[in-house]
Amino acid sequence: MNIAAERPARNGPGWSPGAIPDAVRPDFPILGEQVRGLPLVYFDNAATSQKPRAVIDAVADFYRHDCANVHRAVHTLAERATLAYEAARERVRGFVNAASANEIVFLRGTTESINLLAHGLGRDWQAGDRVVLTAMEHHANIVPWQLLRERTGIEIAVLPVTERGELVLEALPDLLDERTRLVAVTHVSNVLGTINPIAEITRLAHAHGVPVLVDGAQAVPHMRVDVQAMDCDFYCFSGHKMFGPTGIGALYGKADLLAALPPWQGGGEMITRVTFERTRYAAPPQRFEAGTQHAAGAIGLAAAIDYLSTLDMAAAAAHEQALLARATEGMQALGGVRIFGQAPHKAPVISFLVEGVHAHDLGTLLDRKGVAVRTGHHCAMPLMDFYGVPATTRASMAFYNTLDEVDRLIEAIAYAREVLQ
Ligand code: ALA
Repeated sequence: MNIAAERPARNGPGWSPGAIPDAVRPDFPILGEQVRGLPLVYFDNAATSQKPRAVIDAVADFYRHDCANVHRAVHTLAERATLAYEAARERVRGFVNAASANEIVFLRGTTESINLLAHGLGRDWQAGDRVVLTAMEHHANIVPWQLLRERTGIEIAVLPVTERGELVLEALPDLLDERTRLVAVTHVSNVLGTINPIAEITRLAHAHGVPVLVDGAQAVPHMRVDVQAMDCDFYCFSGHKMFGPTGIGALYGKADLLAALPPWQGGGEMITRVTFERTRYAAPPQRFEAGTQHAAGAIGLAAAIDYLSTLDMAAAAAHEQALLARATEGMQALGGVRIFGQAPHKAPVISFLVEGVHAHDLGTLLDRKGVAVRTGHHCAMPLMDFYGVPATTRASMAFYNTLDEVDRLIEAIAYAREVLQ
C-alpha cells in the first residue's frame, strides 16, 4: 500500500496565503455540504477538523485492500498492514521531529496519552509531590491528575493566566522545587487560542530538573512542531483535530523516559513472554500498545500528515492569522461583543460573548445561518470560572476557511443579536 501523498507540493512560486482556500477546498468533500439550505460555514475546527479525501481514501483503502491485524501473522495482508502501520509511526516521528520512531506511541488521542502518563509517572509519586498545571488547561489535562491525587495525595499547583489570556510565567519558578515532579501545559489553549512559549517553559522547568508534558492537541493543526527544538519530554496530540481520523493520536516521549514507564494496559503484543507466574513486557512503544491496534486510524493519520506536507504551513498560518484578524475586527466593529483571549500570539480561535445573549442561543441561531460554532465551557471549566462566565461561543478556524465565511459569521451574529436582544 502506498500511503505517501502523490500530489505535487503546493508551496512553490505563486503560492500566497490568500490563495490557500481556493486551492484546498476541493480536497474536503464535506465543505460542499449545505446546512439549512445554506453553504456550510464550518468554524468548529478546534472540536474536530474536517478530513481531506486523501485521508478518507487511505482509511477506506486499508479496509478494501489491506485489512489485517498488525504484528501478528505472516500472511501477505498482515505484512502489508504491519508495514503500513509502522510506516505511519515513522511519518508521525517526522511530523514532530522525534529522534526515533520508538519514541512514538499510538494511542486513542490526547486524553488517553495524558491518562497513560498520570498512571505511569504517578506510580511512584507520594503525598506532597507536585504536578504543575496552568489555569488554561483542558479537562483532559486536569482530571487525570486529580484521579492521581485521590489515590496518592499529590498536590496540584496551577500557574495563573492574565486577563488577556497569557500565562504568568514569572510565577513558574516558585512552583518548581524538589517536590515538583512534572509541568503539564497546553501548547495552544482551546478556548483562548493563546500559543504558549513551550521552549521557555521547558528551559525553566529543566533548570529545576522537572520534566515537561505538552498537550499539543490544538497546536498541530496550525504550526510545525519540533519536540527536539522545544526539548519537551512528552508531547501528545489527537489525529482528528489535524485533519486525520477520530480514535487515533500519538504520544511522543523521550526514549529513556518511556523506557522507565510501566505498562498501561495489559494484553496482547505488549509482552515478550507470558507465563502464569510472570510476564515480561515489551520495550516501548509496543509496551503501551496492548490489544488490536487502530491500524486504519494510524494509516489515516499518516495520510493527514502527508496532506499537510503538501501545504506551505507558513502560508497556511498566515492565512489563518488573516481569518482571525478579520473575525476579531468584525466582532469589535459590532460592539457589545466580549472577546476572551487577546494574547499577541494566538491560533485562529476566538471565544466570545454577545451582551445580553446566551452563548447557546447564539450558537443555535448561527446554525440557522449555516454557521457551525461550539458553545459551552469547552471542557475548560476552571478557565470559565476565572473569567466569571459559564460558557462562551467559540469560532475556531482552519486553513480551508475563507474571509467570506468570516463575514458570514459576523453577519449571522448581527442577525442573532437582533432576534435575541
Ligand atoms: N477539546 C475539543 C474542543 O475544544 C473537543 O472543542
